Amino acid sequence: MDVYLVNDTYTVRALRENDFDKGYIDLLRDLTVVDGLDSDLFREIFLYQNSRPHQYVTIVIEENCSGIIVGNGVIFVSQQCGFKHGMIEDIVVLKRLQGKGLGKLIIDILLGHAKRLECQKVTLDCSEENIGFYQKCGLVRCGVGIGLYF
Ligand code: ACO
Repeated sequence: MDVYLVNDTYTVRALRENDFDKGYIDLLRDLTVVDGLDSDLFREIFLYQNSRPHQYVTIVIEENCSGIIVGNGVIFVSQQCGFKHGMIEDIVVLKRLQGKGLGKLIIDILLGHAKRLECQKVTLDCSEENIGFYQKCGLVRCGVGIGLYF
């Protein structure tokens, strides 16, 4: 399914190949450093992920009046020993539209995909300041994160 919800203000749908030109990078800048992401790399990643719908689902929210992408979220499903693990990544809502329920809407849709894809668990990494948001979305603290940045 490509479109999840349409109302007067927003269209909630899967990421599309032409979204790079709809302010997508500006949105991701509110989340992380995206200096290396140009239109060619975006297309390469899009085509790779789009051809693996059981592994990657990216949801965006388009603002109807501007045509700009104002929200984004990804679930990546890994499978080890028959155990499916959904990892939620790149959750972001444009600053001026935060606090209107869009972030929770993205998480709800991603969790629906996790169930559809038969994940046994869903996890994510986030900062302390965002824990309350994810708890409002029904997630709970679990485990301890350990990592190494290169
Ligand atoms: N702490 C506690 N509660 C919060 C927070 C927070 N930081 N943010 C939102 N909430 C609450 C809201 O008050 C609301 O509560 P309610 O249902 O009682 O009214 C509920 O969570 C849902 O809030 P939304 O309006 O859906 O959240 P929003 O659309 O603002 O999106 C988000 C939240 C995505 C964290 C947004 O603030 C954002 O884009 N921040 C910058 C980027 C970022 O840090 N993203 C998370 C990275 S972690 C990752 O990607 C796995």
